[in-house]
Amino acid sequence: MSGQNKMPRRTVLAGVAMGSAALAMGPASAQTTGQMPVSNGKTALVTGSSRGIGAATAKRLARDGYAVTVNCEKNRDLAAGIVREIEAAGGRAIWVQADVSDPDAVRSLFDETERAFGGVDVVVSNAGIMRLAPFSEMTDADFSRMVDVNQKGSFFVLREAARRVRDGGRILALSSSITQLRRPTYGPYAATKAAQELFANVLAKELGGRMISVNAMAPGVVNTTLFTDGKTPEQIAGFTARTPHGRIGEPTDIADAIAALCSGDGVWINGQTVFTNGGIV
Ligand SMILES: NC(=O)c1ccc[n+]([C@@H]2O[C@H](COP(=O)([O-])OP(=O)(O)OC[C@H]3O[C@@H](n4cnc5c(N)ncnc54)[C@H](OP(=O)(O)O)[C@@H]3O)[C@@H](O)[C@H]2O)c1
Repeated sequence: MSGQNKMPRRTVLAGVAMGSAALAMGPASAQTTGQMPVSNGKTALVTGSSRGIGAATAKRLARDGYAVTVNCEKNRDLAAGIVREIEAAGGRAIWVQADVSDPDAVRSLFDETERAFGGVDVVVSNAGIMRLAPFSEMTDADFSRMVDVNQKGSFFVLREAARRVRDGGRILALSSSITQLRRPTYGPYAATKAAQELFANVLAKELGGRMISVNAMAPGVVNTTLFTDGKTPEQIAGFTARTPHGRIGEPTDIADAIAALCSGDGVWINGQTVFTNGGIV
C-alpha cells in the first residue's frame, strides 16, 4: 500500500453506495517528528465519524498513531474533510460510506479497512441517531429507524468486530448516560443505548483469552447536533446547570476517554460501561 494513490471508487452493495477516498500517505512504518503522529502500526475503524463524537474520535486516534477508517451514512463531503484533516496532520485515513443498518454494507466497511490497512485493531461502534417523543406520539418510522441504526446497526458492527479485530485490540460501543437519567421522551432511544451495555459485557466474555477489551461508553450531554437539535437555549442551560463540571461535554472529551481505553493502560477495563458525563448522573 505504501505510496499508493488510489482513485476514489464507488461500488454498490445491497443498494448502499460505498466510497473510498484516495490513500495518499506514505509507508505504514513511516516515523514522523514534532507534532506529527508516529504510526503505531494499528488500525481503528470508527462508525459515524463524519461529524460529532465520531469525528473527534477518528482525529484523536489518528493523532495517537492509528490508521483510521472514517465512516458516514450520507455526508460524504464531511467524511472526506475529516480524512483531509487527518492527512494534513500527518496521519493516515480513508473514508467509507456505509449505512450500519445494512449488514452487507458493514461487511464491506470492514473489507475496505482491511484492504487499505491490512487489518483492524480498534472498532468504535459510534454511529447513532436520536428521535425524541413521548410514547403516545412516537411514530412507527422513528422507532424503527432508531432500532435499525442504533441497535441492529451496532450489532452488525460488533459482530464483524468479533470476527475480525486482532488479538490485543479494543472494541467500544456508544451507549448514553440517558440510560441512568431516564428523562421523559427518551424511552425508545435510551432502550437502544442500554443494549450497547449488554452487547459489550457479553462480547467481552466471548472474546476471552485474546486480550481484546470490550466496553460500552456512556457520554452525558455532548455538544453535537444530535443533542442540540430541537432544544431551546434554556433546555441546554438546564443540562449545563445539572453538570457538576459546569458545562456540557465537547466531542473531544469523549474522544479523549475513548483514546484512554484504547491505550495500553486501558486493557484491564473490560466488559464495563464507562460513564463519561462530567458527573451529571
Ligand atoms: N451527543 C450526545 O449528547 C450523546 C450523548 C450520549 C451518547 N451519544 C451517542 O454518541 C454517538 C455519536 O453521537 P453524536 O452526538 O456524535 O451524533 P451526530 O453528531 O449526530 O453524528 C452522528 C454520526 O453518525 C453517522 N450516522 C448516522 N446514521 C448512520 C448510519 N445509519 N450508518 C452510518 N453512520 C451513521 C452520521 O453520518 P452522516 O454525517 O452521514 O449523517 C454522523 O457521522 C451516538 O451513538 C449517540 O447515541 C451522544
